[in-house]
Amino acid sequence: MEPPASSLRVARAGTMIKVVFVTNGERSAVSEVAQTPMKGAVREAMEEQIGHEFSAAYLYLSMSGSFEAANLTGFARWMRAQASEEQVHALKFFDFLLDRGESARLPAIEEPSYGFRSPLDTFEQALEHEKRVTRFIHDLYDLAVSEHDYPAQVFLNWFVSEQVEEEKSATEIVERLRMAGEDTAALLMLDKELGERQQ
Ligand SMILES: [Fe+2]
Ligand SMILES: [Fe+2]
Repeated sequence: MEPPASSLRVARAGTMIKVVFVTNGERSAVSEVAQTPMKGAVREAMEEQIGHEFSAAYLYLSMSGSFEAANLTGFARWMRAQASEEQVHALKFFDFLLDRGESARLPAIEEPSYGFRSPLDTFEQALEHEKRVTRFIHDLYDLAVSEHDYPAQVFLNWFVSEQVEEEKSATEIVERLRMAGEDTAALLMLDKELGERQQ
């Protein structure tokens, strides 16, 4: 039977054909699915995580702009690279959902902070943001465990490790900025060092 005109027919690799019916903005029915469907709660949490990763990218881009305006071009470059990395994280979640045969409904991204008091204040906020993302990743992992979603657990392993790295690098910079204190020469040295980040 032909799907109604309002439905979106998505043909993917090989023989799999998936039909997603959209009624009043809600996903309601799926037919002819060749892949094991994801539990709705896991899929929705991953969609939210795409938003969290883009929020991080947006925040770091905002921070990069503040550093650029303050002529701290090394910090600005580091933050811009960090923003790019967060976009890659978002796309990993996006692609994972697509690989599982799901479509991805993207959430709104809120306006990031703007105007930071000092380099230390900026990196303290970055560290706080990373801790928040870590909690989201851990909650997502808990959900994948409780929903017995084994592919999601394997996929999330990478993010669990990545968050350790993210918190470590942000903490190091916060600590070094605290050591630099009011010493402009030390600040400029750190700015130069962070500006050497390649990606
Ligand atoms: Fe991230
Ligand atoms: Fe991050």
